[in-house]
Amino acid sequence: MRYALITGASSGIGAELARLFARDGIGVVLCSSPRSRDKLQALATELKRLQSIDAYALCEDLSLPGAAERLILQVNELALPIEYLVNNAGAGIVGQSFQDHDATQMTGMLQLNVVTLSQLTLHYVQPMIERGRGRILNLSSSAGYVVPHGLEAAYAASKAYVISVSEALAHDLRGTGVSCTHIAPGPTRTNFFNAAGLIDERRMAKLGYSQPHDIALIGYRAMHAGRTAVIPGISNKFVTWMARISPSRTLTGIISAYVVSRNLD
Ligand SMILES: NC(=O)c1ccc[n+]([C@@H]2O[C@H](COP(=O)([O-])OP(=O)(O)OC[C@H]3O[C@@H](n4cnc5c(N)ncnc54)[C@H](OP(=O)(O)O)[C@@H]3O)[C@@H](O)[C@H]2O)c1
Repeated sequence: MRYALITGASSGIGAELARLFARDGIGVVLCSSPRSRDKLQALATELKRLQSIDAYALCEDLSLPGAAERLILQVNELALPIEYLVNNAGAGIVGQSFQDHDATQMTGMLQLNVVTLSQLTLHYVQPMIERGRGRILNLSSSAGYVVPHGLEAAYAASKAYVISVSEALAHDLRGTGVSCTHIAPGPTRTNFFNAAGLIDERRMAKLGYSQPHDIALIGYRAMHAGRTAVIPGISNKFVTWMARISPSRTLTGIISAYVVSRNLD
């Protein structure tokens, strides 16, 4: 059996990705923080029962220093070849100016979105290259294309890192049989905004946010196809394209702050 390590699998896009792997007969090693232990275990049990695959639930707070090493040790104990790595776990600080960020929360977010993602990738990519096959899928964000990004400064910058490092790695991996894909969703109906205490389900529905299953499917297909980047949705494509051709980063920042604040009103 082939195995996928999926971080942030307890809810949202990560849980939907886990279902897609399982449906295709790929064993899954699911990871979330310890606060979602029961939910993660329930998903692993559901996938084992419905899809007759191996499914494991491992908990680690990936926003802490040394978390990637601790997760790797847990995965090593299972002695499974990881052929797919999905760096999906992520959190945001949204709706706040940078100067109002809490330092501890911001450090944890950067550890989770940037450092842990990089360390897990570095660890798992080498055996993939030796095997001559493997797939890496990273969750970036349309916010990462729009930097400076009003009211999401550190989050958007962390996702700009994910875009940049994923594309560079995809380039470096050419000819190895291993690929790295990143998907840059726009606003999606998950716990992401609820977790930040910002926006509820009803408002997300009204604003037409994407469904996590649709985003997961687009990313999953792009990963299997070995594509470098995928930006789901017409409006999302338009926003990222506009940000790239904008003659003024100051203007981009003003417009993005306006759009974010209207979405959060
Ligand atoms: N939703 C959007 O609008 C949107 C848009 C663009 C990009 N994204 C990106 O998509 C990815 C998935 O997010 P989502 O929208 O599906 O949100 P979500 O439903 O909140 O899922 C986030 C996942 O990450 C895990 N996670 C968060 N903090 C963690 C920590 N400290 N240690 C370990 N795991 C942790 C969560 O586990 P716990 O349950 O244990 O917290 C959960 O499984 C993120 O990288 C996010 O930045 C989301």
